[in-house]
Amino acid sequence: MRVRPARFSGERKRGAASEAIPSLRASAFSAIMLSAKRLNLRRAKTRQSAFPAREDSQRMERTEECTILVVDDDEGMRFHLIESVTHLGYKYLAARDGEEALARLRGGAPVDVVLCDIKMPGISGLDLLEVVRAEHSADVIMMTGYVEEYAYDRILELGASDFLHKPITMNELRVRLKRVLRERWLLACREAARRDLEEAAKRLKTSYEELRQAHEELLRARKLQSIGQLAAGIAHEINTPMQYVSNNTEYVAGAFSGLAQVFAFQRGLLEKARLAPLSEKDIGDLQTLEEEHDVEFALEEIPGALAQTLEGVARVSNIVHSIKQFAHPGTDKKAPADLNQAIESTITVARGEWKHTAAMETDLDPGLPPVVCAQGEINQVILNMIVNAAHAIADKNSQGKRAMGLIRVSTRYLPETGEAEIRVTDDGAGIPEEARARIFDPFFTTKGVGVGTGQGLAIAHTIVVEKHRGTIDFETRTGDGTTFFIRLPVEERV
Ligand SMILES: Nc1ncnc2c1ncn2[C@@H]1O[C@H](COP(=O)(O)OP(=O)(O)OP(=O)(O)O)[C@@H](O)[C@H]1O
Ligand SMILES: [Mg+2]
Repeated sequence: MRVRPARFSGERKRGAASEAIPSLRASAFSAIMLSAKRLNLRRAKTRQSAFPAREDSQRMERTEECTILVVDDDEGMRFHLIESVTHLGYKYLAARDGEEALARLRGGAPVDVVLCDIKMPGISGLDLLEVVRAEHSADVIMMTGYVEEYAYDRILELGASDFLHKPITMNELRVRLKRVLRERWLLACREAARRDLEEAAKRLKTSYEELRQAHEELLRARKLQSIGQLAAGIAHEINTPMQYVSNNTEYVAGAFSGLAQVFAFQRGLLEKARLAPLSEKDIGDLQTLEEEHDVEFALEEIPGALAQTLEGVARVSNIVHSIKQFAHPGTDKKAPADLNQAIESTITVARGEWKHTAAMETDLDPGLPPVVCAQGEINQVILNMIVNAAHAIADKNSQGKRAMGLIRVSTRYLPETGEAEIRVTDDGAGIPEEARARIFDPFFTTKGVGVGTGQGLAIAHTIVVEKHRGTIDFETRTGDGTTFFIRLPVEERV
């Protein structure tokens, strides 16, 4: 297709610029300007949200997909521009004046660049520029034949992407359109990348929240699992004192019935003695009855049996109290807690786990201040340390060198850092060199199926380091044993 030669005339335009705006048009125009000004205040924000999306940035890479809106009241100029734009391979839309241009834009036409004459009847090119900047994402290239009236800088300051002086050659139009579209494409890419990042951040936040919830679930499940695991040991611990409470009570009940018979016989003799002196036979009968019911033995044994019974009842109630302390749901909220008591309870409920392999020694600092912590969770950490220690000792015991090991749990207050330190030491097999870097990894275990799942230290790390902002370290020597050091801030750290 042949391109029509340019017919540009600055003079011809001068008359058109002085045309009055009809009154109806004027009121519509002032409403547009008012809304433009309001929008203008929020320009930065609006512009950002009006940026093209990723699909737009992909579309903009292809010339034939870009649309140029040609706005000029001069018909000849308009045709010339349309032909040039078409020749350059772009799609086009055309408008005779600002109002028509706005109607097209507001109708949702996908315009990339508005090629806009400045002097037009009705809405001037500069007013149209302001509305487009406020309401649309299209770039605007201003054009005029009145070179001396408009400074290049000023036009760019008003928000135009470029400024062309008429007459406009095809080559100039090609270069300028290419540059504006390139910048526009880059901006669209940057915006698409920003949105992608925002999306990714949102997804990350959601995943983090899901992970946190899953972690909470895991902690709860682990707590239930450990209670289940400890249940057999606890039942056994309660059963032993209950056995002798029951035996002693049975014995005391039997002895009491014998003593009651002897007592009744004695009362009869007493009545008899009031009337006449007792015979040899009476005395002999009493002695026989006392021997029959083992009165001497009963009088010696009953106090001991009762004391043992009371001790058994106290042991059971201590275990029950420890279970309550260990498993009470309220202990998962952070509150000042007596760590020494928490440790004693945990040792008590876990007795079944260590008593066959090790002796237990405690050295708990009586001056330890209350520690702000989720006690239920700290109980879980201590339990895992004790069970790990018992397993390491059992490993060493099974190598045939000895029958029992030693677990030592101690606490102390560190005034210089405001921390409470818990140490759990065992004289077990130690942590093998190749496992040391991985013991806090989730699901890392050296134990057989059904013995360990590899979650204990990973959970302990989360609880101590992430939830309580404390630290957890260890020292170990292969064949000699291991000490874990847990440090918790006494006051909550934010
Ligand atoms: N006191 C210790 N002595 C020697 N090795 C230890 C000790 N504590 C932990 N380990 C090593 O660290 C590994 C991970 O311990 P962790 O408590 O995380 O898991 P686990 O005890 O194997 O399984 P779970 O605790 O889930 O029942 C253990 O399998 C063991 O190899
Ligand atoms: Mg463990």
